[in-house]
Formats: sequence, C-alpha cells, structure tokens
Amino acid sequence: MKNNRVTVLDIGSSKIVALGASTDDAGRLRIDALAQGPSQGIRKGGITDVHGLAGAIMGVTGKLARELGEGVDDLTVNLSGAHLQSLSSQGFTQIVPSSRTITRQDVHHALTHSRGVVMPAGKEQIAAIPREFRLDQQRGIPNPIGLRGGRLDVLTHLVVAQSSYLSQVEEVVIQAGHKVTMMVPEPLASGLGVLSEEAMELGAMVIDIGDTTTGVALFEGGSVAYLAIIPIGSFHASNDVAQLIRAPFSEADRLKLEHGIAMSSGIGRDDVVSVRQDDGGSPRPMQRKVLCEIIESRMREIAEYAAKHLELSGVVKLSYGVVLTGGGAQLSGCDALFQAVLGTKTRVAHPKVQGNHSRHVGQPSMATAVGLARYALDSEESEFIPASGSSNGREIMRTLKAMFGGR
Ligand SMILES: Nc1ncnc2c1ncn2[C@@H]1O[C@H](COP(=O)(O)OP(=O)(O)OP(=O)(O)O)[C@@H](O)[C@H]1O
Ligand SMILES: [Mg+2]
Repeated sequence: MKNNRVTVLDIGSSKIVALGASTDDAGRLRIDALAQGPSQGIRKGGITDVHGLAGAIMGVTGKLARELGEGVDDLTVNLSGAHLQSLSSQGFTQIVPSSRTITRQDVHHALTHSRGVVMPAGKEQIAAIPREFRLDQQRGIPNPIGLRGGRLDVLTHLVVAQSSYLSQVEEVVIQAGHKVTMMVPEPLASGLGVLSEEAMELGAMVIDIGDTTTGVALFEGGSVAYLAIIPIGSFHASNDVAQLIRAPFSEADRLKLEHGIAMSSGIGRDDVVSVRQDDGGSPRPMQRKVLCEIIESRMREIAEYAAKHLELSGVVKLSYGVVLTGGGAQLSGCDALFQAVLGTKTRVAHPKVQGNHSRHVGQPSMATAVGLARYALDSEESEFIPASGSSNGREIMRTLKAMFGGR
C-alpha cells in the first residue's frame, strides 16, 4: 500500500478528526487532507449515542471527501475504552524440514500459537504484535522471514477488547456510510504519532491526555510492551473547577485554558483571576492559586494512574523517558508534574508531518490521527497474515519495526 493514500478516523471525546495521508518521495508521512468537527455521543471511550456519533462522523468524512475530491470508503479507526487490556504471550513453530527458509506462513503459525490464550466470554484479541522472534538459539530478531532455522519462537504482545464495543464502532462507521478496514488501539496509534524509531528502541512511555480518556503505551526494544486507557482526561479538570467554584462548565474550561497551570506551588496568593458570573453580573475575583490547585489535583491523579500502569507493565528502563501528548498535555507545567510523579524525564511531543496541513496536524491533539495514518500506510507489506487469507479488520498482526524502514 506504500505511496497509496489512506484515510483514517480518530473518534475522540471532544473532536473527530479524519485525515487523508500518503508518503512523499523520501518516504515521509504527508498529509493530503484534514477534516475536523466536534464529537458527540462518546465519553470515556464508550459510545453513548450511535446515531448522534454517526451523524458527527458523517459531517467530518464529508468534508474530507470534498477536500480530497473523491469518495471516502475505507477507514482505519482508533479503538479506545477502559476495556482494552494488554497481555504478554509466547508461541513457537517447528520448521520442517529443519533449516529451510522461514516464510510468512511460519511466522503466522508461531503467532497463532502465541494467541492460544483462553479469552473470557465477550472478549477478543484485536492485536497480536510480535515483540521479539527467536530462531533456534538466536534472540532479538525483528523479522525472521528469509532467515533459516529449525524452531521459531515469538514473544507477542496481545491486546484484548470487548467484542460488543468493537461491533458498536463498526456499526457507527457503517451508519456514517463507510467501512472499517482496521482498528488500532489508541495508545499504540498515539505512540506511533509522536515517537521516533530510536525512542521506541530505547524505551519510552507515551501518555496521551485527551478529553475524557488518557491513553498509556510503553515501548521498548522497538516494539510495544503494554497499553491501557485511563478513563479520566482534561475534561475532568474543567469539570472539577466548575463544581468547586460553582461556575458554568464553559467558564471553568476557559479559566483552565487561559490561566491553568499543572503545578500550583509557584503561584502567589495575590495572583487573581476574574470569574464571569452565570447571571451576567459583574465578574468575581478568585485566587489563581485555588484554580490551579483544583487542576493540579486532577492531573496528579492521572499521573498517579500512569505510574501504576508503568509498574504493571514490567518495563523497568525508560532510557528515552516519558512523552506527553494529546490536547490535555498542552496545559502549562504538565511535563514538570508528570516528571515529579513518575520520576522520569518527561517532555511534551508533537507529531511530525509534511504537507499542506502540517502546522495544524502538528498539534499534540493530533497524535492519534497521525499514528493511525502511519500505521495504515505501512500495513499491507508487514502484516503477518497467511498469503492465502486476510485479517478481518478487527485484528492486526505485525511488528512495529517494519514500519520505520526507509523513514
Ligand atoms: N492549552 C491547553 N491547556 C489545557 N488543556 C487543554 C489545552 N488545549 C486543549 N486542552 C484540553 O484538551 C482536551 C482535548 O484533547 P484531545 O483533542 O486530545 O481530546 P480527544 O481526542 O477529543 O479526547 P479522548 O482522546 O479522551 O477521546 C480538552 O479537554 C481541552 O480542554
Ligand atoms: Mg484522543
């Protein structure tokens, strides 16, 4: 599929983004078209209004089609929700006759073996991403196709999702007049949107702070080791402010965006902001420190959940560090707060892309959409499906390393 165009859809809680993307002559990701609109009917990664959401998607994909000058059929879509789970698994296949060249089918056999984990009712595996292959005694092989050996082992990262949720996403996209070609777990996409191959190799944690969710993904040795969705995002900070200072949500959100800082300790008591009144009365003064203490408390909670996931992941060395992205990461001081909680070097990252829309698409809130495009563009050539078959769009089986070839 290289050099052909892909169309992707990031269904977020606050906004829906669709991109048309391709690779330029140097093999870099190029954005050909961008459409964005407000989201509806999705919260914490759960769909609450299929009809409303389908309508919102249709509005955005309609704009994308107009910009591209062609219809949009197939979409690679993000997958969110606290139901996403990570598992590590192992599998192998015997190569017969011994020492012949490893084929795509052999890799598929080993991967299928590693997927032989019993799934609880209502759950299914949506991603089987090889982290490492071993050929006989040799470890750390990124892609064994074409090599010779007698026994192929694989360490696989499995992502498990709730089947009913997958069906709902498919239904909503169909209602909007499109087809889902692939579903990509959102934290994986966000990582692909902002990390370099080197960062993935060294060990990095990506935290995508969205509106009602925060995606966490850990990368090491060039592959993904763990991912999860925390059902809290930047919306909750605004909501806390609204509740605690008894202001409308829109005013609380404005205060967060215009005056919010994630670390309240450096703010003096004499720093005052104006809170607009609901009834149109004259604005009332409020200590900025109080506003930021409320925001900090929510952001700290997210960072503490992220720290728990880091522990659960078993990843011990983050040589590259922590990378914050997503709209919520734009809160000033967010990197310092997460660095203090996680005890690891933390920076905010923007997706790096070429093309007409590169400035707009280079925003942290676009990390997922850009990662989806990167994933979709490289999908066919590195997917480990048998030559005769095809995956059903609900599942992906591939290494990540293959994606960076030539970039
Ligand atoms: N400068 C800023 N400071 C603080 N928060 C910000 C800033 N800019 C955007 N945000 C917040 O980022 C959030 C939106 O981020 P994003 O677009 O990544 O979310 P989303 O993808 O729609 O949601 P989700 O991923 O949770 O489904 C909003 O809550 C918004 O208030
Ligand atoms: Mg998002």
